[in-house]
Amino acid sequence: MSGHGTPIPMTSRPCGPLNGIANVPGDKSISHRALILGALAIGETRITGLLEGEDVLDTAKAMRAFGAEVTDHGGGEWSVHGVGVGGFAEPENVIDCGNSGTGVRLIMGCMATSDITATFTGDASLNKRPMARVTDPIALFGAQSVGRSGGRLPMTIVGAAEPMPVRYTVPMPSAQVKSAVLLAALNAPGKSVVIEKEATRDHTERMLQGFGAELTVEQTDEGRVITLTGQPELKAQTIVVPRDPSSAAFPVCAAIITPGSDVLIPNIGLNPTRAGLFTTLREMGADLTYENEREEGGEPVADLRAKFSPDLKGIEVDPARAASMIDEYPVLSVVAAFAAGDTVMKGVKELRVKESDRIDAMAKGLRANGVTVDEGEDWWVVKGLGHGNVPGGGTCASQLDHRIAMSFMILGMATQKPVSVDDGSPIATSFPIFEPLMAELGAQLVRSNA
Ligand code: S3P
Repeated sequence: MSGHGTPIPMTSRPCGPLNGIANVPGDKSISHRALILGALAIGETRITGLLEGEDVLDTAKAMRAFGAEVTDHGGGEWSVHGVGVGGFAEPENVIDCGNSGTGVRLIMGCMATSDITATFTGDASLNKRPMARVTDPIALFGAQSVGRSGGRLPMTIVGAAEPMPVRYTVPMPSAQVKSAVLLAALNAPGKSVVIEKEATRDHTERMLQGFGAELTVEQTDEGRVITLTGQPELKAQTIVVPRDPSSAAFPVCAAIITPGSDVLIPNIGLNPTRAGLFTTLREMGADLTYENEREEGGEPVADLRAKFSPDLKGIEVDPARAASMIDEYPVLSVVAAFAAGDTVMKGVKELRVKESDRIDAMAKGLRANGVTVDEGEDWWVVKGLGHGNVPGGGTCASQLDHRIAMSFMILGMATQKPVSVDDGSPIATSFPIFEPLMAELGAQLVRSNA
C-alpha cells in the first residue's frame, strides 16, 4: 500500500545520453487479472512475469482473503489455487486495496454475485475516487452497497444471493468498469451482455476466453457487444505476463528527449488497445522503432528501440486513441514540452478521476518548471518550447500518483535545471525497479530535494 509510509522526495538532474537495455516489469492490468481469474478457476494457475508492485500485491492479499491459495515462488513465479466461480468465502477483515482502482473495482465486481459481504478501503487517493461506476451496474445483478458520500470508499458490498444476468452499456470508456461487470456476470446464470461504445483494453475478455469461458465479441452500431455465459467452470491456466507498455513508456520517452540516447526496451506487449502512445510519439517525429515483432500468448509483442529525437513537433492527438493511451498522457505531456508547437489533447475527461486529477497535477508541475499549459474539463494543451529550452528548477506534487512522480523524473532528465517531486513513494505501486533501471541507463535520480 502506498500513501501510508514516509514521503520520499526525489530529484532528477539533467543527464547525458541514456544507453542500454531497459527490462521493464510485467503488465499491471494483466497481473491483476491473472490473480483474480486464477482465484476463480479450479486447479492451479501458474503465473510467470507477474508485476510485484504494491497494487498487484494488494490484489494477491485480497484473493487470499476470499479463500484462494496464492503462493509466491520467487522471481516473478506465482501460483494460485482457485476456489471456482461462486466459491469465494466471506473475508474476515476489511479488504485494503491500497492505491489500486483496478484492484478494488475488479474485486468488487467478482464478489458482487456471491452470497457474501465484504468491506473495501484504500489509501487517501483511492478513497477519493468514484465507485458508483461499479456499484450502479452491480446493483442490476442484485448486489447492494453502502459507502461514503459521493460513492466513495470505504464501502461495503452485500453480494447478490440470487444474481440475475444483465445487459449493460458502460457509460464511460473504462476497462475497469467493463471488467467489473464481466466478472460479476461470471456467477449469474444465463447470458449477460456488456456493451462499450469505445473499445478499451481487452485483457479481461482475452483471459476469460483463455480460462475456458464462453465469451463472444461483436462489433455493431451500438459498439463492442460482449456476451458472456455465466457460471462456467474456469480451468486453471499457465500465464506468461507480457511486459507493461505503460511502464515502457517512461524509458521510451526519456530516451526520446535526452540528447544522444539509444535505448532498447525488449518484449513489450503491443495490444492495440494499449499502444496508442507509441503511435502518437511517431506522429510527433520520435525515432521509435519496433524490432523483432511477434505474437506471444495471443498478444502482439515487439522490442522497442527509442532514440533521441531532436525534431519533435506538437500535434493534435486523435481523441479516438484516448482509451488506448489513457495512462500515458502524463508522460506524453512531458515529451510535448520538448516539441516545437502545441500538443493538443482532447476527449480526456477520464484523466481527472485517476490516482490523481492528472490534468491538474501535470499542468501545475509543468508550469512550476516553466512550461505553459492551458486546460479545460476534458482537454489540455502543452505549449512546447523545443529541445534545450525547458527551464526546469521546480518541485512538483506527485499527489499519491505513481505516473505523475515518474513523469516529472523523466522531465528533469532534459531540462536546464533539476526537477523534484515531493514524494516518489507511489512509484512502487507499478514500477518498483524504476530508480535502478533508469540509473543503469544513465539517469541521475536522487532521493532528496535538489
Ligand atoms: C485499467 C484501466 C484503466 C487504466 C488503469 C488500468 C485496467 O482505468 O487507467 O490504469 O487494468 O482495467 P479505467 O478503466 O478507469 O479507464
